[in-house]
Amino acid sequence: MFAKRTNWNLSPNRLSQVLAAHRASAKPLIDLTLSNPTECGFAYDSEAILDALRNPEALKYEPNSKGLECARRAVARYYAEKQVTVSIEEILLTTSTSEAYSYVFRLLCDPGDEVLIPAPSYPLFDFLVDILDVKLVRYPLLYDHGWLIDFHALEQSVTSRTRAIIAVHPNNPTGHFTKPAEMGKLNDLCSRRGLAIIADEVFLDFSLNDVATATFAANSGALTFTLSGLSKISGLPQMKAAWLVVNGPQRAKAQALERLEVIADTFLSMNAPIQLAMPAFLERRHNFQEQMLARLQRNLAEADRLLAGQRLCSRLVVEGGWYVILRVPATRAGDDLAVELLESKGISVHPGHFYDLPPNGYLVLSLLTPESRFSEGLSSLRSTFS
Ligand SMILES: Cc1ncc(COP(=O)(O)O)c(C=O)c1O
Repeated sequence: MFAKRTNWNLSPNRLSQVLAAHRASAKPLIDLTLSNPTECGFAYDSEAILDALRNPEALKYEPNSKGLECARRAVARYYAEKQVTVSIEEILLTTSTSEAYSYVFRLLCDPGDEVLIPAPSYPLFDFLVDILDVKLVRYPLLYDHGWLIDFHALEQSVTSRTRAIIAVHPNNPTGHFTKPAEMGKLNDLCSRRGLAIIADEVFLDFSLNDVATATFAANSGALTFTLSGLSKISGLPQMKAAWLVVNGPQRAKAQALERLEVIADTFLSMNAPIQLAMPAFLERRHNFQEQMLARLQRNLAEADRLLAGQRLCSRLVVEGGWYVILRVPATRAGDDLAVELLESKGISVHPGHFYDLPPNGYLVLSLLTPESRFSEGLSSLRSTFS
């Protein structure tokens, strides 16, 4: 009765089963995988957020396939504050970055066409591409005192079916930014081979050091789709508001925008109250980002303090984003280790293979965890290896 694309293995994996049992038993839990900012103790200006949703303009229906102008102007201002000019005509609003991906895949790919994604990266893509009949091909990132794109392997991965290269900027969970020289090489490769760049910039504002963090939004070297949204930028995933900026050589850009408008017009998925509130939600990002950056930096510094003076557990270099990767002894499968940490210490972590890291030797931790819990969890985790 069902399409083959939905033949997923839906049984929970061993770690989720153990986690569900642990939660059901009401045993203490230190969750080092938190990714929902609304549950991490940040102070949101509730009044201002709720007030923004009470705009009387929301009583009118104004269908606009790209999204209401006032919201797109707010997105253009977000880029203007980064000294980048984006026209509101180049912006389309969507309910999530995932939806923005789906529009772009629909625009670029026939069934079976390929999209190149970095490995390691975050796991949402697997389902998204199944639903959209697109094939994912992974290109490796290399780790050498920091992450970089393996351009030789990337070029080898391009086939006649390849339509786009995804750059997650900064990537989740490696936390590395695409450097200006890498952007140049991506432009060169994409324009030579007729490919588009899809830049996922949901974590762009969360730089943890001085590495340059230029956006792809004004990139003109190849057809470029830049994706971002309020879920990370303003810490408001529940508001379901994101966007997609189209840029690149004039003709390709104009054609892409025309076609994307038809895709967006078919769904008109944005609702009025949220679009009208987007300027206020974007404005409030400064306050959220200040708190978030302070937390990320404090947790990272605490990780360095706790991991100093021993060699069995270390962290990889991270430049931005909300996560950190730990290198641990590879003598046990990451899954076994994560289950053991949960059962014996009540600590929840993700094994690296969830993100296409090797199956042994890597754990991924969220830096969102409130500071005292992060410190308690990590020092208990570290003691496993001493
Ligand atoms: C790199 C990256 N892009 C996109 C998303 C999804 O964002 P959205 O909530 O806008 O769909 C996530 C979610 O964690 C992410 O890590």
